[in-house]
Amino acid sequence: MDTPEELHGFVCEVARRAGELQLSRYEDPGEVKQKAPKDFVTEVDLLCERLMVDAITERYPDDAILSEEQGGSVSETGRTWLLDPVDGTANFMKANPMFCACVSVVEGGKVTHAAVAAPRLGDLYHARLGGGAYRETGGVRTPLRVSDTEKLEYGIVGADLSLYGGKPQDPGVEEVLFGAWQLRALGSAGIRGAWIAAGYLDVSIGTRNTAWDYAPTVLLVSEAGGRATDLSGEPWSLSSRGLIATNAALHQEVLAVLNRA
Ligand code: IPD
Ligand code: CA
Ligand code: CA
Repeated sequence: MDTPEELHGFVCEVARRAGELQLSRYEDPGEVKQKAPKDFVTEVDLLCERLMVDAITERYPDDAILSEEQGGSVSETGRTWLLDPVDGTANFMKANPMFCACVSVVEGGKVTHAAVAAPRLGDLYHARLGGGAYRETGGVRTPLRVSDTEKLEYGIVGADLSLYGGKPQDPGVEEVLFGAWQLRALGSAGIRGAWIAAGYLDVSIGTRNTAWDYAPTVLLVSEAGGRATDLSGEPWSLSSRGLIATNAALHQEVLAVLNRA
């Protein structure tokens, strides 16, 4: 039986190996298919998923796996792995460097380990419940700490909005953006969450229910001194619709603005 440290090392290794595969296919995504309107999957998404699933199944055959492309299941009693083989596929298709591989482990409803490998940035972000959050770049490990921004009006907010067709946004999300200083739309929920933990952004808003996108943010941000909840301020869970992650200081203000609209 692996210790939590050994498990954590393996979580990081799986993310890192998928990131290496992504990098080896940079500018060469292979066949691209449209799963749904404006939702793409490349050959590299599928290759990364195969690599990750095979590695996890070989080492932990009894664990449940839920992965974006192949689906899967969540274990009620045991360990579940959440995988996003390529997060930021729309970027990867265009050789935009903002893409990553996301791996999370959920036990007893809590995210206990997470790793986000962003190979074109040279960064691996990872966290363990109760063990802190870190960035590794070029073999150097740095602890992550959220920003100290105290007011939303000075806040830099990360969110990916689809504006096609003039579709109105959630009014609460619009209010948060209008109340903030600047918006960053990175095209990768995994990197966005890691950047809250690193203090590069102050607030992250996600309005979907894709657990593999949000689970790493929940752990990285809370281990770096921030807060992550669902859109109403309740603890985030695998079935939550959306995630708000902040530097903690802005959390109440963001929730109040989001929910008064
Ligand atoms: C998407 C990206 C994007 C976010 C979408 C995600 P994908 O993930 O993270 O930034 O706005 O909600 O689905 O499809 O590239 O793995
Ligand atoms: Ca994703
Ligand atoms: Ca993906």
